[in-house]
Amino acid sequence: MSIQTDIGDGVLTVTIARPEKKNALTLAMYQAMSDAIHQGRADATVCALLITGQAGGFTSGNDLQDFLERPPEGEESAVFRFMRAMLDCEKPIIAAVTGPAIGIGTTMLLHCDLVYVADDARLGMPFVNLGLVPEFGSSLLLPRLMGYAQAAEKLLLGDMFSGTEAVRLGLANAALPASEVLDHARGVARRFSTLPFPAVQASKRLLRASLRDQIDAAIKAEMVEFTERLRSPQTRALLQAFLERRRPTKGPDP
Ligand code: COA
Repeated sequence: MSIQTDIGDGVLTVTIARPEKKNALTLAMYQAMSDAIHQGRADATVCALLITGQAGGFTSGNDLQDFLERPPEGEESAVFRFMRAMLDCEKPIIAAVTGPAIGIGTTMLLHCDLVYVADDARLGMPFVNLGLVPEFGSSLLLPRLMGYAQAAEKLLLGDMFSGTEAVRLGLANAALPASEVLDHARGVARRFSTLPFPAVQASKRLLRASLRDQIDAAIKAEMVEFTERLRSPQTRALLQAFLERRRPTKGPDP
């Protein structure tokens, strides 16, 4: 099983565990993650959710083989269900990020409430580099978070950045040595079981409410472009090149 769940001390921990593929997320893994989030929401003993990755990596993003063979199709897709589960989760979501956090590995952090990163974590949203466009509301949320100039570097050039930089840009709470990230995040997550829970839930709802409709609209608009681009010969060639460990200087015309 590539998604592991564990409940203890009021925290449901979701661990992405596919280290041989740098924790790339398949459709089955998105489904398992959204099931885990629903399980955490329904379990009255769970006060917070913690998302992390196994073997020194968070996730290298969507499985690129899946993008080629089983591209997501609209709101019924497992990817969309995962996004909706995160957006609808009224309990705090904490992320512990080490190593690569690429594509949705970075964009999902925009929907976490607290994010702890390794100072040398490698974050990035290289969608354009694969002929794709931003997803999971990042075209809306990133410029609001870090300003247009920084967001453009990350989304128009696909520039990678470190955990330390993620804190400076407001995407993460703290950068720590990689060996300390999970314990630190777990300690923070446990604190929620000592707080008056209805107040925590209502506060999260209030924090998130003003942007919710805009996020839904952004995700829908991004999905239209994204699925169209995924079908293009240029993107398919770029994905194939990555999987074959080739780097074309230029893909075929769209
Ligand atoms: N989808 C499918 N397979 C992936 C993957 C992904 N997103 N990311 C890594 N892998 C696979 C590699 O193909 C490789 O498989 P192989 O051993 O069968 O050839 C294995 O995982 C190890 O990856 P590798 O690239 O050798 O590791 P690395 O340490 O040199 O680099 C990354 C790690 C994460 C920087 C690099 O794998 C990468 O850039 N991945 C793609 C990230 C991406 O573009 N994500 C989607 C954004 S929309």
